[in-house]
Amino acid sequence: MNPFYQDVLRGLSAPFKQLDSKYFYDQQGDQIFEEIMDCPEYYLTNCELEILSQQSAAIIDTVLAYQGAFDVIELGAGNALKSSFFLREMMNKKASFTYFPVDISANVISLLQRELPASLPGIRIQPLQGEYLDALHKATSLSKQNKLVLFLGANIGNFSVESALRFCEEIRHQLLPGDLLLTGFDLAKDPRIILAAYNDKAGITKRFNLNLLHRINTELEADFDLAQYEHYPTYDPQTGACKSYLVSLQEQTVRLGEADFISFKKGEPVLTENSQKYTLAQIENMAAQCGFQLCRHFFDSRKWFVDSLWICA
Ligand code: TRP
Repeated sequence: MNPFYQDVLRGLSAPFKQLDSKYFYDQQGDQIFEEIMDCPEYYLTNCELEILSQQSAAIIDTVLAYQGAFDVIELGAGNALKSSFFLREMMNKKASFTYFPVDISANVISLLQRELPASLPGIRIQPLQGEYLDALHKATSLSKQNKLVLFLGANIGNFSVESALRFCEEIRHQLLPGDLLLTGFDLAKDPRIILAAYNDKAGITKRFNLNLLHRINTELEADFDLAQYEHYPTYDPQTGACKSYLVSLQEQTVRLGEADFISFKKGEPVLTENSQKYTLAQIENMAAQCGFQLCRHFFDSRKWFVDSLWICA
């Protein structure tokens, strides 16, 4: 059976309904997400771009203080826009390294392989398509040089706090003492700024969230009436939990495929995304708990976001 179908059926049959956020990103979803990144309320991408465009040299010098040479593995490389600042700086420094971009999307991987050497002539690139941890294992078996793993874009926020910790432990198990990890975290801040980032005035995020139902309709032959669901973002400033839901506006039954039926109560929520926010204390704790030591935090000028550099103890 189609894994997308199975995941949707399982998620919508659970006592607390949820949909896996990885399914947001079909062609339409990719496009709407580009629009989110351009909208004034969504600060995350610009913060991290500021960090990497202005501090890549400082990040590399910090890494070089620990390791004379290192390969770069990027988990969820996407179009490598953010990391390209970093990679260009590595090339300028005449560092000898291989870049292993990892992405689940075969499309993204083949684009990178074609286009990155054009903008960074001479780069040694070895793209790896697949799941993060499998690809990490592959990369560490392909080269014995020390590793710097990049996990940018606040992707870690899409895990729950416990799964983020488990994920970093698994990364730690694949690495050797002296290897490094640079992770992007969105920081806890004025709750109004955070909530607005997930509830932009122009309604782009709402469109993004609802597009998931549209995708289910077209790919899994379902009959969701999009007008009967509302985008509902929440942020809890005490726990840093930031969640997006779709709320059913009435009692309704939806058909999925040939023979499955899902009923919704009026006001029933479907969890579609976690975007956990962290304090620096939580980040430092997390590093220690999964066997890393903090090297340094790299902030944007407003200190809204951090790329946190850790070394395997
Ligand atoms: N995963 C990203 C984030 O947490 C993307 C995103 C932005 C998102 N706005 C959203 C996901 C709204 C779901 C709903 O920042």
